[in-house]
Amino acid sequence: MKTGKLTGAKKNENRVELTFEEAVITIEVITENIVRVLNPCWKADYASIAIEKNVSIGTEFSFAEEKDKICIETSDLKLEVGDDFAFSFYDKSGKCLLSSYSGKRVIKETISEKTKKLLEAEGHKAAGGSKDYAVQVLFNRCGDEFFYGMGDKTGFLNKGGYAYENWNSDIPQLHNETMPALYKSIPFVMVKKTEGQPYGLFFDNTFHSYMDFGKENSSYFYYGADNGNLDFYFMTGDHLKDIVGKYTYLTGRAPMPQLWTLGYHQCRWGYENAEDIRKVAHLMRENHIPCESVQYDIDYMDGFRVFTWDEENYGPKGQLINELKQDGFKAVCIIDPGVKKDEGYFMYDEGIRNDYFAKDKDSEVYVNEVWPGDAVYPDFGREEVRKWWGDSHKILTDMGVQGIWNDMNEPASFRGPLPLDVQFHIGDRLTDHSEVHNVYGHFMSMGTYEGMKKITGKRPLVITRACYAGSQKYAAVWTGDNQSVWSHLRMLIPQLCNLGMSGFTIAGTDIGGFGGDSNAELMVRWVQAATFSTFFRNHCAKGQIMQEPWEFGEKVVRIYRKYVELHYRFLPYIYDLLHESQENGLPVMRPLVLNYDDDANTYELNDEYMVGENILVAPVVDQGVTKRMVYLPKGTWVDYWTKERYQGESYIIADAPIDTLPMYIKENSIIPMYENVQYVGEKAYDKLELLVAGKEAHYTHYQDNGEDFKYMDGEYNLYTFDWENGELKTNLVHEGYEKYKTVEVNVI
Ligand code: NOJ
Repeated sequence: MKTGKLTGAKKNENRVELTFEEAVITIEVITENIVRVLNPCWKADYASIAIEKNVSIGTEFSFAEEKDKICIETSDLKLEVGDDFAFSFYDKSGKCLLSSYSGKRVIKETISEKTKKLLEAEGHKAAGGSKDYAVQVLFNRCGDEFFYGMGDKTGFLNKGGYAYENWNSDIPQLHNETMPALYKSIPFVMVKKTEGQPYGLFFDNTFHSYMDFGKENSSYFYYGADNGNLDFYFMTGDHLKDIVGKYTYLTGRAPMPQLWTLGYHQCRWGYENAEDIRKVAHLMRENHIPCESVQYDIDYMDGFRVFTWDEENYGPKGQLINELKQDGFKAVCIIDPGVKKDEGYFMYDEGIRNDYFAKDKDSEVYVNEVWPGDAVYPDFGREEVRKWWGDSHKILTDMGVQGIWNDMNEPASFRGPLPLDVQFHIGDRLTDHSEVHNVYGHFMSMGTYEGMKKITGKRPLVITRACYAGSQKYAAVWTGDNQSVWSHLRMLIPQLCNLGMSGFTIAGTDIGGFGGDSNAELMVRWVQAATFSTFFRNHCAKGQIMQEPWEFGEKVVRIYRKYVELHYRFLPYIYDLLHESQENGLPVMRPLVLNYDDDANTYELNDEYMVGENILVAPVVDQGVTKRMVYLPKGTWVDYWTKERYQGESYIIADAPIDTLPMYIKENSIIPMYENVQYVGEKAYDKLELLVAGKEAHYTHYQDNGEDFKYMDGEYNLYTFDWENGELKTNLVHEGYEKYKTVEVNVI
């Protein structure tokens, strides 16, 4: 992107407008440690979709024009900009954190045309052909950077050396570590160097974009996009946690969920009638495996028409849902965006009558194919369309539905991708698919969340497959169509950790794998690894062997039950973390590097994770393994099972027979636990157990009705617990809800 020489600079409130020969770039000081850089090369009057509120707070900063550069300095960072938009960000001590790369893009490997042809003849793809993007910025790479974030991208925790794209993609094939994109576009990356402060970069642009973390050339990393503005936020802080806090300050935080939604869910694309669902629900109870919902995949609809019910196979509307409700089951139904093109079908007719569907370039309603056959796509970027869609959920809530699962909202299409010129809107502005694609799922979740909130008055459960930065305000996510392979079990940890650091505190994978046939050992290791995931669901595809725990024999049921029960025991701890996350944006499931970013041993730990601050989990993610190496960071750690104590900053060999998930409690911590139930609501949670490790510990615990928004009016309790010399001191800091009848201490 050519800008030319810097010819002038003007300060206006919290902005500095930099005039170059060929561009005007605005630097906006958002806070003392967040700066926005905007080159409106596409549109000046563009409103962010990810950032909904005014995030800019009056911040003191100095601005100086020097001979060949300008300097902007807040209390926490300094930015220098010169000709050709060469820039450097410094920390408060004057150390350079990030600077622009002024050389050209060069691919390391170049081959002759002849070799290229030869490679292609056997179906290989040759590296090469780097083409500058319409929007592009290159950054110097020192070589010791570790890159985290980027949402659901495949591969390892550290994204260094890999390249990715942001283009929401429905990928039924095996997800592997070199895939450029999956279902979600979260153009946010956090960079940690072995020395110095970390920083974060959020590129707010919804067009197809590209991020290369040193794959093309180890001298630089870059961001590119096909269109839109160069609009990025640079943020820094002392620790990676601060960066997550700042990113979620900008794009918003996941609201408190209903407690039951954090419980266990069973699903299969292939429960084809009421009897299938009923049978699974009964077997969950018979096998004493706690469960909240047996979810309704697309088969419950009449001919895959959204907001309908197949009475022939699923019985009269509401009947099955009501029947299972007596046994504590909540109904969660899938809703896809594609509306069947079918005159006489109310959703299609209403949408046509009101002009709610996307149109092709000739202004005819655009038709592609999804599950119902020919289908049309609601233009969710318009508020009116979202409202119509949201309100339509009343049809389902009237039948007793309590949660909505949004799928196929990349949007998926069976007759080739939607052309880039299909017409959509963002607000009242007419635009096209190239801009809307990556936010289609975001707008759908937003409409669903708002509709469900209005209708039910409860905290909506919306699960989405596709989304953009900021969608965490409306939906939980799952990682789409994984498969029953060990590499996907292994990937669960980095994928959920990176999603968590990208704002998605409520996330999960399909336990057991969606595609392919699972097996007993894989099921057991998967449920163990997922024990602390905030969206906790076993799901599997039609045509694969059945995947409910009892399909793998009594031993699997026994171990599976043990870990689902463990998940329920730790629910108040998970809930507390989600409550704290309202303030700090931190996820429940964290890579060790997020808690211990001064410890280089944690930077590339792909097979351990932490639950908040106090629990370290080291699942077995390989077949046949019954012992594994575990890295324990600073502190003393207590083995949850054997109660043995270990000094941290060391590697230990943990015993992990098939029924054991290696787990460690941090010394001097308190963890709240509930007693076991078959489902949330089975009985009142009127007893709180405190698992206490060590001699001195402090903990803050939050309690509310776990359902609605009354907590916002003060209907909640906040306790502090202090453990000292074998004695517990309890302090009710805020009282607004029914208190526990008993608080019991279990010391380990
Ligand atoms: C694709 C989703 O990823 C999967 O979870 C679902 O079961 C199928 N669509 C059918 O609805």
